[in-house]
Amino acid sequence: MQDLSLFLLDLVQNSIRAGAGLVKIDIHENEKRDWLSIDIADDGRGMDDKTIKMVMDPFYTTRTTRKVGLGIPLFVAAVERCQGNVTIESTAGRGTKLKSGFLLRHVDRPPFGRLDSTVTTLIMCNPGIDFVYCHKTDSGIFTLDTREIREIMGEIPLEHPDVIGWIETYIRDGLKEIDGGVS
Ligand SMILES: Nc1ncnc2c1ncn2[C@@H]1O[C@H](COP(=O)(O)OP(=O)(O)O)[C@@H](O)[C@H]1O
Ligand SMILES: [Mg+2]
Repeated sequence: MQDLSLFLLDLVQNSIRAGAGLVKIDIHENEKRDWLSIDIADDGRGMDDKTIKMVMDPFYTTRTTRKVGLGIPLFVAAVERCQGNVTIESTAGRGTKLKSGFLLRHVDRPPFGRLDSTVTTLIMCNPGIDFVYCHKTDSGIFTLDTREIREIMGEIPLEHPDVIGWIETYIRDGLKEIDGGVS
């Protein structure tokens, strides 16, 4: 079973390939309602309606390096196993919003995996892209906005090993504080 953090990595890669400059990741663990939502919004080139329909089809991809695109269909299958659903809203030239929601405590719900290192890796490997990561639980909200960190860091790039190390710790501690992304 694939961790949610790996699905996230794959979905954000789509945003990056679509030329996004800003990617927003929203995760909401609602224990009371037994519901987990994961939304990804980007300002990339977007898709027209025909492409959105095809994207849900496991044999469609615009990539040429691999014949089939399985990122989104695999995610949709995992979400549907947990009585959830995925929707994609997209405007060509403006961006894409992928929204998903499913049962948090479903037996088939994949574990979160390492959200701290996944988000840190995305930041480290994509210096030209800003990320806003918001994680909500019943105990609180954790938010990381690379635009704010960039402003504080000034000349020092986010990919600097010390900054990257700090970001990873900041996410890990932030999630711990709200009991987020535990299992
Ligand atoms: N955020 C996005 N913005 C623009 N196009 C997207 C986005 N996500 C997916 N797509 C389009 O949908 C296709 C299928 O995506 P996916 O199922 O992840 O397979 P793959 O990434 O292997 O092509 C991509 O090749 C791309 O054309
Ligand atoms: Mg993909």
